[in-house]
Amino acid sequence: IGVWLVGAYGNVATTAVVGARAVARGLADTTGMVTARRPCTRLDLPAVGDLAFAGHDVRDTSLLETAHELSAGGVPSADVVDAVADDLERIDDGVRVGTAVNCGRAVADLADETLSAPEIGDVVAGIRDDYRSFVDGRDLDRLVVVNVASTEPGVERPERYDTLDAFERAVETNDRDLPASSLYAYAALREGHPYVNFTPSTGAALGGLCELAERKDLPNVGRDAKTGETLLKSALAPMFARRNLRVRSWEGHNILGNDDGLVLEEEENKAGKLASKGGVLEGILPDIEHNRVRIDYAPPLGDWKTAWDDVRFDGFLDTRMKLQFTWEGSDSALAAPLVLDLVRLVSHADEYGEGGFQPQLASFFKAPLGVDEHDFSRQFDLLERYVDHHA
Ligand code: NAI
Repeated sequence: IGVWLVGAYGNVATTAVVGARAVARGLADTTGMVTARRPCTRLDLPAVGDLAFAGHDVRDTSLLETAHELSAGGVPSADVVDAVADDLERIDDGVRVGTAVNCGRAVADLADETLSAPEIGDVVAGIRDDYRSFVDGRDLDRLVVVNVASTEPGVERPERYDTLDAFERAVETNDRDLPASSLYAYAALREGHPYVNFTPSTGAALGGLCELAERKDLPNVGRDAKTGETLLKSALAPMFARRNLRVRSWEGHNILGNDDGLVLEEEENKAGKLASKGGVLEGILPDIEHNRVRIDYAPPLGDWKTAWDDVRFDGFLDTRMKLQFTWEGSDSALAAPLVLDLVRLVSHADEYGEGGFQPQLASFFKAPLGVDEHDFSRQFDLLERYVDHHA
């Protein structure tokens, strides 16, 4: 099974690859991987050691370099990085130059080299060639494309691309508003590969691309993986709702120091992230009076993220109470195992010809496509039901 990582030299991608190779070599266990425990162990999923990686990036670096930078912050350990260094170097050979069209100034500043062409259609053709050479060169049974690139600014008036005809006309007429994530997604679906959007970027959420995934019976999942503060919210908020405790205010403040944080300093890139983080509470606590999330960049924190949340709620007899918590997570250690889970589960859905949205994967996302359910345990029920049906 091939895994194409858009944003291959980033922290999440690198940690996923290091983790997969470390698990395959018996150097790490599978803690943090949902598919390594029940109910998912009842499914016939591809082995982590059978995943072959390649991808796109726009920076001139390497997996090994990112892995060394990450291990300076403690995760992964230097020993593990050394043990998989040869694997990383081999995978580096399969990383191609990607496009940064409409990714905003912050990404343009990061980029060293990009795939650009006067016509958008040629950019798409270049991406398709890259996917094809990997699949053919490695004789792969299947390829799953995963977007783990920096968050892009949102698309204005996305309804312009509501149908496949409209999207394809835009490509043919060289519409310069289409974002990179949607070009990668379109190229994947056209080549017959499922697409996973781990980020808040637009990707395959446009109506025209959802239509293409449906028509070609290809899984289409996203957006924005739920790994930290939002995961906690989606587990805690239902408790308040079910006990009829009235949440009046939920204020969350996140600080992080990695490049994700740097790109999210740019207001246009941050907007999508705030929307998917904020939407979770509105779905579960529709009467909340104040719901705000902040994200700030604090470089010395590196790949560690701290979230402080302050929740004010009313109980019986108008009694005012509060919950405050601090969450400190290693951003990539939380995200990377979910990349591997999603690849294994999407590959399974693809094998069984299940195209379009995948409600059973809602628990992995802050803004699950095609599923209006944010309660973590109810989302997980969907996964359990899927496994019951397929095991
Ligand atoms: P990162 O900044 O370390 O990595 C992003 C990589 O994407 C960089 O190597 C960059 O050069 C590359 N890139 C940017 N634009 C590109 C393009 N158009 N084509 C190809 N490559 C491109 O960020 P990190 O921490 O790895 O996060 C990746 C994405 O995952 C971000 O969008 C983030 O918001 C999202 N995400 C991360 C979570 C986590 O770390 N816990 C949770 C949920 C989502």
